[in-house]
Amino acid sequence: MVKVEDIKTITVVGAGTMGHGIAEVAAMAGYKVYLVDIKQEILDRALEKIKWSLSKLYEKGILRETVDSVMSRITTVVNLNPDGSYTEEFAKILAETDFMIEAIIERIDLKQQLFAFADKHAPPHAILATNTSSLPITEIAAATNRPENVVGMHFFNPPPLMPLVEIIRGEKTSDETVEVTVALAKKFGKQPVVVKKDVPGFIVNRILGRFINTACHIVHKGLATIEEVDATVKYILGLPMGVFELSDYSGIDVFYYVFTAMKERGFNITPCPLLKEKFEKKEYGMKTGKGFYTYPEPGKYVRPKIPKELAGKVDPVLLLAPAVNEAAWLLENDVATKEDIDKAVKLGLGWPKGVFEFADEYGIDKIVEALNKLKTDLGLEEMEPQPLLLKMVEEGRLGRKTGKGFYEYGEVEEIKKKTILVRIEKPIAWVILNRPKKLNALSPELLKELGETLDELEDNPDVRVVILKGEGRAFSAGADVTAFAGVTPIDIAKFSRRFQELTLKMQFYTKPIIAALHGYVLGGGLEIAMSTDIRIAAEGTMLGQPEINLGFIPGAGGTQRLPRLIPRGHAKLLIYTGDMIPAEEAYKLGLVEKVVPPERLEQEARALALKLAEKPPLALMAAKYAIEYGLESNIWAGLALEAHLFGLLFSTEDVIEGVTAFLEKRKPKFKGR
Ligand code: COA
Repeated sequence: MVKVEDIKTITVVGAGTMGHGIAEVAAMAGYKVYLVDIKQEILDRALEKIKWSLSKLYEKGILRETVDSVMSRITTVVNLNPDGSYTEEFAKILAETDFMIEAIIERIDLKQQLFAFADKHAPPHAILATNTSSLPITEIAAATNRPENVVGMHFFNPPPLMPLVEIIRGEKTSDETVEVTVALAKKFGKQPVVVKKDVPGFIVNRILGRFINTACHIVHKGLATIEEVDATVKYILGLPMGVFELSDYSGIDVFYYVFTAMKERGFNITPCPLLKEKFEKKEYGMKTGKGFYTYPEPGKYVRPKIPKELAGKVDPVLLLAPAVNEAAWLLENDVATKEDIDKAVKLGLGWPKGVFEFADEYGIDKIVEALNKLKTDLGLEEMEPQPLLLKMVEEGRLGRKTGKGFYEYGEVEEIKKKTILVRIEKPIAWVILNRPKKLNALSPELLKELGETLDELEDNPDVRVVILKGEGRAFSAGADVTAFAGVTPIDIAKFSRRFQELTLKMQFYTKPIIAALHGYVLGGGLEIAMSTDIRIAAEGTMLGQPEINLGFIPGAGGTQRLPRLIPRGHAKLLIYTGDMIPAEEAYKLGLVEKVVPPERLEQEARALALKLAEKPPLALMAAKYAIEYGLESNIWAGLALEAHLFGLLFSTEDVIEGVTAFLEKRKPKFKGR
């Protein structure tokens, strides 16, 4: 068996989009490359494209040698005689080949013919790989007498830029062949994932197929519009492109062929009629000027308009769940490890999180609920939740919220005080106002416990972000009016001062605080919410400062913070009338930053908190201080503070980490040091 160190010569057969890119990658990695195709014109064009691509990489400083020196390692070879037989020259270079990568058109007969010829002429140690995305490796291998040396090596377009390579084992592929191919992919500077069974679509296309197809069914059924789906995918899930945007960009015909081929090989999918319709009308997307969106000029890409306001009009879990279900199938059938599956969607599709990481964040129970809903609403049996997901729900492995899902997050710690419940889901902490029967009315005891809890969490290094919410049917209906009975003015002044101290603690808390609001957010409840950094409200939340109705005024900062958040006249209107306003109106005024359906409140708050938890803690604190102190000073003082905090951050390890990670093109790991 060949060792990766012994590989010197690589032959790439097929000089099309994928083939020429693969040849470029191999040559850049220092290998002697033969690039083979049926005609010299094709090869000449391929060489030109490689040269162009290399010069771009050179300009960017990615290529550390000259374009010519890389080019000098590539030799082109014509492999077909006019009578259709293979050329002698092809046989000759195959005899020198240690590793062949085939990237010709997706036709099993042609591939088998090629592999049979290669088998005859390549030395016994040579590995014969195919870049097929839709044909069975096992069938291609069957044309050779060395099926143990035949393997799938699936690159992504364009190969020089896309880091992922799926390495697929055919039925007879040996462990050594997989190992060497993995090692070679690494020598190419790529990140390989191993597909342990030759299933149609491997990892990426299966997950993508399920994701696109279901989103398309959702639109076809009229449950959401194209723009609503795309806005949700981009702005809530944070994927680089919307489902329909991506289809148009890559070509609806391309996806149509890939998905049809997968279905023919037994992938259980009901093709979305909309996709077929577009395909038949030859509305392929950007390249024809019309697909799901229209483009001013065929072939010229202009980003379609996807209004941000439409994000969340469709439940993101409905869009995500089919992808999770497919990934669960892969895991359950031992096709790939969960780490490789997550790596594949991140590197192959540019997802900001792995599909299992997403699932853990949204909650496995929510994923199962969404699948059941899709099954009914779309009438699609293929939405049946995978047994693995059902088992996880049964065992309470629901993801982050239980500390265990596809991944382990450490124990969720719960601390129960008299009026406050704390749940520490590292790296975030939930502080839950817990007097549900009294709509979380703020008794002196609750305020005291809230202050102490915040102090404890501020000292807890495992906690990066705090989320404040209310148990039961309200966030908080305000100060506990019963505590006001029979008290003296000085008692109330003391109460107010202490309460104000608590709001100041939150305003200058060294970690971000998010308020997750629902039900009633009144009086002191609103004053607390206004002291946090960011407010997310469930639809239907009512907010107000009703103190006037009781004969007094807000006493915990309401008269000061409300007019700082919303226009002065509106603040007066709220304080003078004591009227409540719904979340949607509060959003328009700038009193809350986001309004979401009630069932999504917790997830939205968690997602934001997890996002902030990845940011450098000291920089977050500095930003908060510059904003909070700056706004209460004049701009000169504010700017001076900003400059000094900015400067101070350059004494932190996190700045070094941030800049290094950027240059190394990886995600930074900030420690708060
Ligand atoms: N202080 C003390 N108790 C309060 C309270 C407050 N601010 N707000 C609600 N509660 C109690 C109620 O007294 C009731 O207790 P009970 O079941 O022992 O009678 C319980 O919480 C449920 O409230 P209820 O009024 O029955 O619910 P509702 O849905 O009919 O009305 C509100 C909800 C919010 C409109 C109403 O409770 C209200 O107006 N609360 C006072 C709001 C206020 O003025 N806050 C500012 C105080 S400075």
